[in-house]
Amino acid sequence: MSPAADPYRASRELAERAERAIGGARHLSGRALVEEQPPLYFTRGRGPRVIDADGRSYIDWILSYGAVFLGHADPRVDEAAIDQARRGALLPLNHALHVEFAEGILARFPRFERAMFLKTGSEATTAALRIARRATGRRKVARCGYHGWHDWCLPLEPFVPEGLAEQVLEFRAGAPSSLAALFEAHPGEIAAVVLAPEMLLPPSREGYRALIEIAHRHGAVFVLDEVKTGVRIAPGSIHQRYDLAPDIVTLSKALGNGWPIAVVLGSQAVMDHARGLHCSATYHGETTGMAAALATLARSTELGAAEHVERIGDALIAGLAELAREAELPFVAYGEPLGAMPFFRSSGDRSDERVALDAAFAREMAIRGILIHPRHLWFVSASHGEPELAQTLEAARASLRVIRRRDGSILERVAGSAIT
Ligand SMILES: Cc1ncc(COP(=O)(O)O)c(C=O)c1O
Repeated sequence: MSPAADPYRASRELAERAERAIGGARHLSGRALVEEQPPLYFTRGRGPRVIDADGRSYIDWILSYGAVFLGHADPRVDEAAIDQARRGALLPLNHALHVEFAEGILARFPRFERAMFLKTGSEATTAALRIARRATGRRKVARCGYHGWHDWCLPLEPFVPEGLAEQVLEFRAGAPSSLAALFEAHPGEIAAVVLAPEMLLPPSREGYRALIEIAHRHGAVFVLDEVKTGVRIAPGSIHQRYDLAPDIVTLSKALGNGWPIAVVLGSQAVMDHARGLHCSATYHGETTGMAAALATLARSTELGAAEHVERIGDALIAGLAELAREAELPFVAYGEPLGAMPFFRSSGDRSDERVALDAAFAREMAIRGILIHPRHLWFVSASHGEPELAQTLEAARASLRVIRRRDGSILERVAGSAIT
């Protein structure tokens, strides 16, 4: 391709420079979405839209994997954070905002009595586990879902210390008996059950409560990892929606609308074990993320943001499912776990065909100015409205038509698989 004809020229050039300047070339979530594109670089975002380095505008349904909730560059949130920065982002020792922030979060999540502040979701889940270990005097953990990049989250990888897989046990959210079996096989050894609530599909009060009950029966701390669902799922989290009583909840992502902040919430009894525990880092007391989080919570309440994103997400799911039916292509649309976090993906029996179809769809959508990840759930922000919904469905209709025509070979190979 001649440089002039390359629609991703600026991104391609940045990716080449990154190869020479950045360890590993880029962070993992910045890799190329589909083979034909370079890793995309972005320069600006506002509301539901982002602009790439080549000047192309997209409706963004990736939203930094859920970290953006109100919309990119929300004026109220950014003003609060910048105003805070002007007064010194990180002052020595303690800051009045630490207390105001904890009080503000507890007022929004009144089931809990103590809050602890950190910067990332991985830090929050690791801190939750550490507190649970100290509270129970046990070491092992039973977990279900993605909880971050720290060693305990990836126990089977060759780059973590040996023996972690014996400490970190997995259960299936939809099969409470798989959790009960872990407690039977490791009596008196499991400190915490950690669940990412999007793993239970469809979500249900009974399903979550069954898992919490098993954990408590065996003396373990139950951690609901709401890093993705916290603040985003109406009325503000999964534990509120289903009236659940986990011992600890972790929050991050939507809470800061793009500014780094994470929280561990818990009862006084559990969180007392955090006293003097080493869960501390230089930047935990940094205040711009806290100011952003308080502004995000205030603004999302004013806007009814969580209810809005679910409405838009539900409409998106219904529209995409209808288009897939019309196109007679094997795609499914559903919420993971609810409409605020929609997923549209191919559903054939063969993984190579699914990968090809998902990539083809993401590629066609990008050409039409819609940014989605081919293998990841989507996120909706409060700034996504009817125009973005209509434009996305129009692009999806055109994309599915092109796939149906052009990728006849894929279709032949998926013939016989269920068309949902
Ligand atoms: C449920 C859940 N927990 C923890 C994490 C880790 O958060 P972070 O990437 O901010 O470290 C993620 C990230 O996607 C997540 O989805």
